[in-house]
Amino acid sequence: MSENQTAKIIIEGKEHEYPVMIGSENEKAIDLRQFRKETGYITFDDGYGNTGSCLSNITFIDGEKGILRYRGIPIEQLAEKSSFLCAAYLIIYGKLPNETDLNEFRKKVAKKAHLHVDFKHHFEGFPKAAHPMAVLSSMLNSLGSYYPHMSTNNREQDLEQFDETAALLISKVRTIAAATYRMNMGLPFIYPRKDLRYVENFLHMMFTEPYEQYIAPKEVSDALDLFFLLHADHEQNCSTSTVRMVASSGANLFASVSAGVSALWGPLHGGANAAVVKMLQEIHDSGDDGSRYIRAAKDGKARLMGFGHRVYKNYDPRATIFGQAAERVLKALGREDPLLDIAHHLEQAALSDDYFIQRKLYPNVDFYSGIVLKAIGIPVEMFTVMFAIGRMPGWIANWKEMAETSTKIHRPRQVYTGPTISDYTPIEERK
Ligand code: CMC
Repeated sequence: MSENQTAKIIIEGKEHEYPVMIGSENEKAIDLRQFRKETGYITFDDGYGNTGSCLSNITFIDGEKGILRYRGIPIEQLAEKSSFLCAAYLIIYGKLPNETDLNEFRKKVAKKAHLHVDFKHHFEGFPKAAHPMAVLSSMLNSLGSYYPHMSTNNREQDLEQFDETAALLISKVRTIAAATYRMNMGLPFIYPRKDLRYVENFLHMMFTEPYEQYIAPKEVSDALDLFFLLHADHEQNCSTSTVRMVASSGANLFASVSAGVSALWGPLHGGANAAVVKMLQEIHDSGDDGSRYIRAAKDGKARLMGFGHRVYKNYDPRATIFGQAAERVLKALGREDPLLDIAHHLEQAALSDDYFIQRKLYPNVDFYSGIVLKAIGIPVEMFTVMFAIGRMPGWIANWKEMAETSTKIHRPRQVYTGPTISDYTPIEERK
């Protein structure tokens, strides 16, 4: 942080001076906390593209250069050397775990995988075809009511229980996700197993049948672990900002991550991974090789899903890693997917097209991730749930950072554009 520089703003002929803040990666901001008090004006920033909502130590992104780091460590190194749970620990606690820390964290997460037996009534209350994101959001909030000592809405008490709550959520989000899939499919719930690692246990709860144990091929569990790791945090995206917004009122971690799931659901955010596969399938079924779709996107009649990003104006580094993973997993499973060829064609065509070049639209994480999930056997309706499992450590870390460092409720202003004062008209006089 630098206190030497200032920024001057002239309003109605009067000069106002504000401190400049500089982050550890030289990110610059003007500190406008006193702006309204001093000038009577507010800043207008629809979509918050120029607004820093917090100070954070967790994740750094340089969208121009295509850089992503968790606690300073490049995503490429983590993708190659770390596991999801190790990255989750790093994101939540700010340092790489040593062997003892990691084993204890693993054990803690493994121990918490079961759901209270009464939870089956919650599942029974949903229509069989309920969308898994609706179920997940409700279930995470309901979960808090089974642990009232962890969801008190008293900051100090909730923080005292933080380690237990974090491990519980990372563990149970996976059990709830698998149970939702089984409910959708009309299949019996499968209990978790303590001897299996995080991803293997999830795949077991998804795909084991009472008469046949599912054993995940290594390529499949590696690919899913990588998927979770690449999604683990992404600074102040829509769902994480939602988590922080909810947390700012003092709400507990269960309520806050439940809101995060709802924010993630939309097709412009986490819902994009499902939208990409649907788009690729439609292109395939219509006999197009992608060219017609690109034309429609340029004419404003369609969006090239999995392309573009608010922050990245370069390749999303996660898309590069995942593009390679898609090739690897399909090859290892001996499968071909025509959707991968269409994706390659779309990518090449878009990257050489002026429309996309001028707007700096590159593939984002969702462009290839759906192809990997599909190869693993995850149904499209569950794709965004997979994103939510992966993003859980990021939401948790941001809740913790917020709860430990800020007591300020998030409460933006608005520029009111509605009618000015008008009298109440009695009903008989209304037109
Ligand atoms: N296809 C075609 N045109 C696009 C696309 C796209 N995917 N994305 C942006 N544009 C155009 C947009 O029409 C606009 O053009 P013009 O300047 O002529 O009006 C320009 O590019 C800027 O777009 P924007 O909507 O103002 O950009 P944004 O920063 O508000 O939106 C985005 C970012 C991710 C919502 C958007 O790029 C998009 O809708 N992409 C497709 C959905 C998607 O893949 N979402 C996943 C994001 S990554 C995972 C995550 O973080 O959740």
